[in-house]
Amino acid sequence: MCAVPLALVSTPLDSRLWLPFTQMRGFDPSARTFVRGAGVELEDARGARLFDATSSIWTTIHGHGHPAIVEAISRQAATLDHATTLGASNPPAEALAQRLCALTGLDHAFFSADGASAVEAALKMALQYWANLGEPERTRFVRFVDSYHGDTTGAMSLSDIGLFKAPFGAITFETLPYDAMARCLARDDVAAVFVEPLVQAAAGMRLVPIAHYAALRGARKPLLVIDEIATGFGRTGTMFAYEQLGIRPDLLCVGKGLTGGTLALSATLVSERVYAAFLAQYRDGRHFFHGHSYAGNPIACAASLASLDLFQREDTLERARSLAAGFSPRLDRLRTHPSVRQVRAHGLMVGIELHAERLDARGAISAAWRVANQLYEQGHFTRPIGDVIQLVPPLISELATVEAFFDALEVALVS
Ligand SMILES: Cc1ncc(COP(=O)(O)O)c(C=O)c1O
Repeated sequence: MCAVPLALVSTPLDSRLWLPFTQMRGFDPSARTFVRGAGVELEDARGARLFDATSSIWTTIHGHGHPAIVEAISRQAATLDHATTLGASNPPAEALAQRLCALTGLDHAFFSADGASAVEAALKMALQYWANLGEPERTRFVRFVDSYHGDTTGAMSLSDIGLFKAPFGAITFETLPYDAMARCLARDDVAAVFVEPLVQAAAGMRLVPIAHYAALRGARKPLLVIDEIATGFGRTGTMFAYEQLGIRPDLLCVGKGLTGGTLALSATLVSERVYAAFLAQYRDGRHFFHGHSYAGNPIACAASLASLDLFQREDTLERARSLAAGFSPRLDRLRTHPSVRQVRAHGLMVGIELHAERLDARGAISAAWRVANQLYEQGHFTRPIGDVIQLVPPLISELATVEAFFDALEVALVS
């Protein structure tokens, strides 16, 4: 990475920017402004290079600025930057729909931008599916305990993280907790069950026991929606986490790593059973009443196709699996650390929950933030979730880089 003159990149202290999930009072943008990314590193405005230890919140797959994705983006931008998909198609969107269906065994892909938009589409598809089939009383949704599906109103209603939802009761609706006993699946008012497979990332890399999914196998009436927005594209060792659970979705939400972590694109994939319920004469008004301006954006779809090619060309899944196996002894070591309450890990999704009460916050907003800030000083960028230090590295990270993260973490935990 080459240095850039600071005058060109520094952010003024009276920044006009309002950042997500960030208390802006006291936030100093000059301390955390990223100006460049290459491979597994981000470079900040002060010239420091940092290991992107959360893959920029679970998005980056092949590293930043991979030449194959950069090339695909620039070629597509010069060919067709955007054209609406409301009643029109484009070749990259067609090709990506084909690829995603081949990968998942599902039959059709509906594109949106962020993960939450894919979840909103799934919610509305499920409602309209049952309305189209003449069962309009199926209007309830089932969610996991500790679930998280995004920050728009429907996705928030499906989420179970009180802190995020508390001010928004007026615009969210009640959802039913999943009891893993098939009881909720037998109700005749349930439209769909939403699940996060294996790992509940936003809950602090909470691991869901595989037995929890057993009741979802086999025949059932409510639709099964699997949210792979955090877990998809190799993070748990398989392309999709549900492959390890013996369940098959009727609808599947993907986002984040879909473009390799380069552009906002998400998709709601559906089975033929779901798609067919929307086919009718125009005057019947059964088509899906939903869509976004940038749905199926050709540049984002081209980036995604390039990312999927890289999975094959660079054996990305195998690299991710061997990286996870390589750092597993470090996790075992942390499990016995007096400042660590629990280590939770599946593939490249790792949460290290601290005994916060045993650690000194030393003026930081919490002990976990003090540790994260110290890691930053040592060249590792992560963001705590409550008391949990997360490590979700890009799939192509070298073991030595991740070992260096653990070395710095061990120092931060004792100092
Ligand atoms: C499981 C899951 N679903 C949905 C979302 C929302 O995705 P986005 O932030 O792209 O809207 C997230 C984000 O972390 C997630 O972890």
